[in-house]
Amino acid sequence: MSDKTAELARLAAYSGDPWGANNSYFAHAEKYMDMAWDKNIFPFIDGCDFTHVVDLACGHGRNSTKLLPLATELIGIDIQASNIEVCRTRFATEPKASFLTNSGFDIADVPSGWATLIYTFDAMVHFEPEVVQNYLLDIHRALRPGGRAFMHHSNYTGGRDWRTNPSSRNYMSLEMMRRFVADAGLNLVRQKAINWGSHTDLDGLTLVEKPHSSPTP
Ligand SMILES: C[S@@+](CC[C@H](N)C(=O)[O-])C[C@H]1O[C@@H](n2cnc3c(N)ncnc32)[C@H](O)[C@@H]1O
Repeated sequence: MSDKTAELARLAAYSGDPWGANNSYFAHAEKYMDMAWDKNIFPFIDGCDFTHVVDLACGHGRNSTKLLPLATELIGIDIQASNIEVCRTRFATEPKASFLTNSGFDIADVPSGWATLIYTFDAMVHFEPEVVQNYLLDIHRALRPGGRAFMHHSNYTGGRDWRTNPSSRNYMSLEMMRRFVADAGLNLVRQKAINWGSHTDLDGLTLVEKPHSSPTP
C-alpha cells in the first residue's frame, strides 16, 4: 500500500468509524427524509438521469428508498459493512438494488462510465477534504459522459476536526468544492448553501456533470 493510500484509509476511517449499524442516528434521521427530499434534494436534482444511480455512503438506505422508484438500477455503497448488511436485509426483495462495502475513499467497484447519477446526502459533510478530492476523481471515472454527481457537503471552515465542529461538519466550503470539482475535470451545474437545523448556511449542495469529452484528470 502506498503512503497516499494508507493516509486516505486513515482519514476515511476517521469519518467512518462512528457509524456502525448500531448508531442511534440512523433511526432518528429516517424521520426527516421526506422533508429533506421535498424541500432541498429533489428540487436540486430534478432533471437528472436516474437510470444508474450510486447512493454513496448509503447508511441504512433512507435515500435509496427515494431513489429506487426513479432508478433502473441502484448501487448503495458504505464504508461500514454492518450498514451494508442492514441495506441488504431492508431491500432483499428489490431486484434493482445491490449494496457494497468500499474503501472509504473511492468507488472502485462501480464500472467506469456506468453511473448516470452519483448521489450523496448527509455523509460527505463529515469526510476529510483529501477524501472528498479522491472521491471526485473516481466519480469522474465512474460517471458516463453527461452523467451527474449530487453532493451534500460541509460549508464550515471554523475548525479542522469534524468530531468537535458544529453538527459534526468537516472543514469544507463552497469555494473549496468548486476547486476540487474543476481539478477532477467535472463541470459545475449548480451550487447553493443550505441551513442545517438552526445553523445558517452550514452546508452546501453541489451538482456537477461529466463533460461529454474530457481527458482523465
Ligand atoms: C450520517 S450517516 C448518513 C447515512 C445516509 N447517507 C443517510 O442519509 O441516512 C453517514 C454515513 O457515511 C458513512 N461514511 C462515513 N465515512 C465514509 C467514507 N469515507 N466513505 C464511505 N462512507 C462513509 C457512514 O458509515 C454512514 O453510513
